[in-house]
Amino acid sequence: MDSFRRNTVVVIKDKKILLGVTGAISAYKALELARLLIKKEAAVWPVMTRSAKEFITPLSLSTLAKNPVYSELFELTEGNRISHIELAQTADLIVVAPATADFIGKAASGIADDLLTTIVMAAAAPVLIAPSMNTVMWENPIVVANVGKLKGLGYLFVEPEEGELACGRAGKGRLAAVEDITEAAIEALSAKDLKGEKVLVTAGPTREPIDPVRYVSNASSGRMGYAIARAAKRRGAEVVLVSGPSSMPRPSGITFVPVSTAEEMHEACVSYYPQSTLVIMAAAVADYRPKKSYPTKVKKDAVSLTVDMERTEDVLKYMGKKKKGDQFLVGFALETENLEENARKKLNEKNLDLVVANPPAGLDSETNQVTIINRDNDTEVLPAMSKDEVADRILDNVVRLKRG
Ligand code: CTP
Repeated sequence: MDSFRRNTVVVIKDKKILLGVTGAISAYKALELARLLIKKEAAVWPVMTRSAKEFITPLSLSTLAKNPVYSELFELTEGNRISHIELAQTADLIVVAPATADFIGKAASGIADDLLTTIVMAAAAPVLIAPSMNTVMWENPIVVANVGKLKGLGYLFVEPEEGELACGRAGKGRLAAVEDITEAAIEALSAKDLKGEKVLVTAGPTREPIDPVRYVSNASSGRMGYAIARAAKRRGAEVVLVSGPSSMPRPSGITFVPVSTAEEMHEACVSYYPQSTLVIMAAAVADYRPKKSYPTKVKKDAVSLTVDMERTEDVLKYMGKKKKGDQFLVGFALETENLEENARKKLNEKNLDLVVANPPAGLDSETNQVTIINRDNDTEVLPAMSKDEVADRILDNVVRLKRG
């Protein structure tokens, strides 16, 4: 049990993230970012520039970050307080959000005239910069050159978004969404053990129409597949996500293919399968569809209605038959009884390398409790955990098995 507990740690948990906040109108979003990082169980150490304090108070930031705000370079050397070198060297990641043109210019020029720029210069950890400024400043050739220089030196960026700016104009320059900055932070902390892999992930339910307003479907939310797609992307893979209808936010930096029916999911998978090195089939594909889909709404004339159903194609089985070279196939097995036995049967029948067995409690839920079985019959029974954690555990198994 203990080893499971130790291993279920997600990549951001207990990591020391130094959150640098500079003086942009979007500084208030740093409060939400701190809250999100804390929610992901990171340890957040805030550092504010003097001008950031014109926009938000250190008290708000330190309350949300659950740590004191550092701000002045020289106050750190007094008494027993931590030094800026120590702050810089002990961080696992430095995130500067929002980052002004002024901060970017200083970092690119090697100027260290306040605590934040000094920390960035002394950093051993990766530095992730989320710029925020007016469009004309963002497009200024000096800023463009500074960003290019920093990227060339290995600094990471979360590009600003297009949208309405504080000046009333619209354009690129608005701070990226805090969810995207958090995702980029997790990615920066992730080992790139899936680099070079082309991963095809399926997610969500399918909808099989009865008429234009009714369909046969199931309770899948898409959460598990989306978590796998995000985790694979963080770990360096090129990801295609084929998704049935889902209200989950579309992960950034991946190829997204929305589908509705089992037939559309099959077509999408057939077209992406040949170039994929790893397939994870997390979708809850409908096994049956109405034989006939009515072109107009079915009226309630008769006392009862019978809908004739026919089998859909088993997408995973098809891929198992066509498997070539070192293509790696992962399937899910949703079971209400004889979990392991039925899952093993699916592993063999569908020619899989790995099967993830779960009871229906995982459907449309934040957590999942899975058993992972591989082609060598190694079985890992995991406790209930978040779907993000499950995703990483599945990928850990894939990496282990692929390396042999
Ligand atoms: N699957 C698929 N195409 C289908 C049905 C299922 O690709 N038409 C995939 C699922 O995405 C999952 C695996 O096959 O990865 C197992 O799905 P599951 O619903 O657990 O089992 P079935 O194979 O449909 O068998 P049964 O419903 O009899 O348990």
